[in-house]
Amino acid sequence: MADLEIEFAGMRMKNPIAAAAGAITSTPYTIQRCIEAGAGAVIVKSVGLDELTQLLPRPGNWFCDRIGDRGSLMHCYAGILPLENALEYISTVKPVAEREDTRLIGSFFYIGPWTGLPPFETVSPPSEVTLREMALQMEEAGAEAIEVVCTCGLSCSAGETASFVDEAIPAVFKALDGHLRVPFWLKLGFNHDVFWRGYLETMRGLGAAAMHTYSDFRVTFLDIETARPPLTVPFGYGRWLRGLCNYAIFLSANDTGLQIISSGGIWNWRDAVERIMCGATIAALESPVQYRGYRIFEEILGGLTRFMQRKGYERVPDMVGLAVPHIDNMEELVVQFMTGAVPPQTLHTVLDEDKCNGCGKCASCIYGAVTMDNGKPLIDLELCERCGACITICPVEALAIVAAG
Ligand SMILES: Cc1cc2nc3c(=O)[nH]c(=O)nc-3n(C[C@H](O)[C@H](O)[C@H](O)COP(=O)(O)O)c2cc1C
Ligand code: SF4
Ligand code: SF4
Repeated sequence: MADLEIEFAGMRMKNPIAAAAGAITSTPYTIQRCIEAGAGAVIVKSVGLDELTQLLPRPGNWFCDRIGDRGSLMHCYAGILPLENALEYISTVKPVAEREDTRLIGSFFYIGPWTGLPPFETVSPPSEVTLREMALQMEEAGAEAIEVVCTCGLSCSAGETASFVDEAIPAVFKALDGHLRVPFWLKLGFNHDVFWRGYLETMRGLGAAAMHTYSDFRVTFLDIETARPPLTVPFGYGRWLRGLCNYAIFLSANDTGLQIISSGGIWNWRDAVERIMCGATIAALESPVQYRGYRIFEEILGGLTRFMQRKGYERVPDMVGLAVPHIDNMEELVVQFMTGAVPPQTLHTVLDEDKCNGCGKCASCIYGAVTMDNGKPLIDLELCERCGACITICPVEALAIVAAG
């Protein structure tokens, strides 16, 4: 039986799948649903100095779903949670969390610089003393760890955010290090590998043991009818973030000694395994839960368990960072590049006539290798480059590339 238990920053967790701070952790009801769905930890919606609660529908946010970039935007912008609410929520759900053996993690915003435009002109990072006092109250209410998020695409440009973070990291350490009974760590958004290496260096210098990474890359989508971005935020969500977040984890795990929580684009158990193999100890989710419902936790945990059993991984740490030596490995890349290709004659593109429904989609082959004959495709192996495009296009999996002979 695969053992899903992990240890993170000195804290035991029954499994490595967490609910990341956001709409899904912004009320006692939603927190409880995450707990009951099996999350190993729930990071409660972030607290800030100023209330900026906006749970209003924003029609612009539905745009990407309409044009097929499903999940690229969050359903709603849940703003900032006042401290009193977070304390009350944690106390309320604590008995359920204890019963289900789920860790409750408190979260704070320590972000800037802000645009100076309303309504953000008053929103500012707390002073070190205030942050410490708030974290102590959170600990008192039952939080078993504290996360402090220092980046937010809603503030200024990537460069300005990076200079802010350079100052924020030591400030948060000064506020919390040695003052709490529970562990704390920073949550930072990946926005550029140069900035990122700088953050990691600073954290290493301060003796950080853990961090949470997500993506703060600025992106845009356009509504071409209006020639304007429909986004109300300059960053995105969705499974397409996967590669970016995997790479951020690789950079963070490679030679830093940090334990990492990673969120961003984890939509199924395979994505979670991939993230763990890139170096994350905890895979966390927010927007996929909004799209798929709380059952996504059970689905991921089930898939993860079955995968570990099939592959013979007894414990999650056996998989953490397994891929790190092979990512950005130029020696392996050159060998793969030189030997990865095979002569086309050693492969055949074949049709399963019983499965084929004659739709003709595969006849879009750009090499002219497919012609339709009596409602069935004929493949000319002289012209076929074995690119595999038709296999991807075929709606009924009637095509395959197999070894010749
Ligand atoms: C509606 C919404 C609200 C969020 N609020 C917070 C927050 O208060 N604090 C925080 O650290 N991250 C917040 N996030 C970011 C998520 O915790 C997470 O890092 C990010 O969405 C990437 O994960 P995902 O691809 O699984 O959504 C929020 C995300 C969404 C979609
Ligand atoms: S494998 Fe590529 S080249 Fe060959 S038939 Fe399919 S689409 Fe055409
Ligand atoms: S796309 Fe698939 S189902 Fe359609 S004609 Fe080609 S092989 Fe047949």
